[in-house]
Amino acid sequence: MKRFLLLIVSVLIILAGCSNSKAAETKELILGHNQPTNHPVHQSLVDFKERLEQKSNGKLQLKIYANGQLGSEREVIEMTQTNAVQFTKVSASALEGFSESYSLFSMPYLFQSQASYREIMKKPEIQDAFFKTTTDNGFIGITYYDAGVRNMYTKDRMIETNADMKGLKTRVQPSKTSVQMIDALGGTPTPMSFGEVYTALQSGIIDAAENNETALTDNKHGEVAKHYFYTEHAMVPDILIMNKDAYDQLTDQEKQWVKEAAKESTVSHETRWDKQVKKAIKTAKSDMGVEFHEVDKSSFMNAVKPLQEQFQTNPATRQQYEQIKEAEENE
Ligand code: GCU
Repeated sequence: MKRFLLLIVSVLIILAGCSNSKAAETKELILGHNQPTNHPVHQSLVDFKERLEQKSNGKLQLKIYANGQLGSEREVIEMTQTNAVQFTKVSASALEGFSESYSLFSMPYLFQSQASYREIMKKPEIQDAFFKTTTDNGFIGITYYDAGVRNMYTKDRMIETNADMKGLKTRVQPSKTSVQMIDALGGTPTPMSFGEVYTALQSGIIDAAENNETALTDNKHGEVAKHYFYTEHAMVPDILIMNKDAYDQLTDQEKQWVKEAAKESTVSHETRWDKQVKKAIKTAKSDMGVEFHEVDKSSFMNAVKPLQEQFQTNPATRQQYEQIKEAEENE
């Protein structure tokens, strides 16, 4: 089905390229991602699209395929590599398999607070330190979107300290660092793509998962997971990536429109995100019966210390780690 859709998308792109001269003046770009259309990140991507089309006076057109219609994050990254789609928005965790530098974002407790995370992630020198590392893979980073603070949630098990993670089959993103994190906490990591989590929780393949609050409502996990724990173990950003050739083929003016529209949508995303998280907590409590709990966060922080040290010495992450810490000090 996905391949069929992709074929149709490719044919449409070719037809668009061959049609009349008016069409030849416009460039149609495709973006695929895995969130539903009511999710704040999707809405920020629509904001990006609208700004881009408005700035370019319709010359650059963006078509968005949401809901994982084109495949899992890994599959759509691969489509971005081959220019079957020009953009995708994925979790930084999904990029770890393409550039090890991105694994730093899955390092538990990397950032001190959400406020400093947002400021640091908007700095051009920090973005550059990651966004250019995938040039040889055929794509580059364009901007980031706040994807909140990740916390544990379970179907029915209670968690107070990390000792309660023992034997807990926990879904993690398909990344080495995410697996190491749950290992370090004493749980049993089960990597799988995001689209499979709901059914895996429902059928008991997993007992737990970890994500921001919108996963409970926008992705409906609160229907099957009734306890949410503020472990606050990671802030893994979402990254908008673009095929390198498609980017190089844009004129300087078009590149500027892309960058400006992306940057502006990153800023507008922050308010959208905060609003939706508040709404998600309220809805999860009142309509889904999800209970929210505080935990002994220090037990989680202590358990991941040996893992954190790896990032400070690994040549693929050391420089970026130091840059982030330095930026934090200057905040
Ligand atoms: C976040 C992120 C998604 C990702 C998901 C996951 O929701 O925004 O891009 O797929 O986490 O846990 O896989």
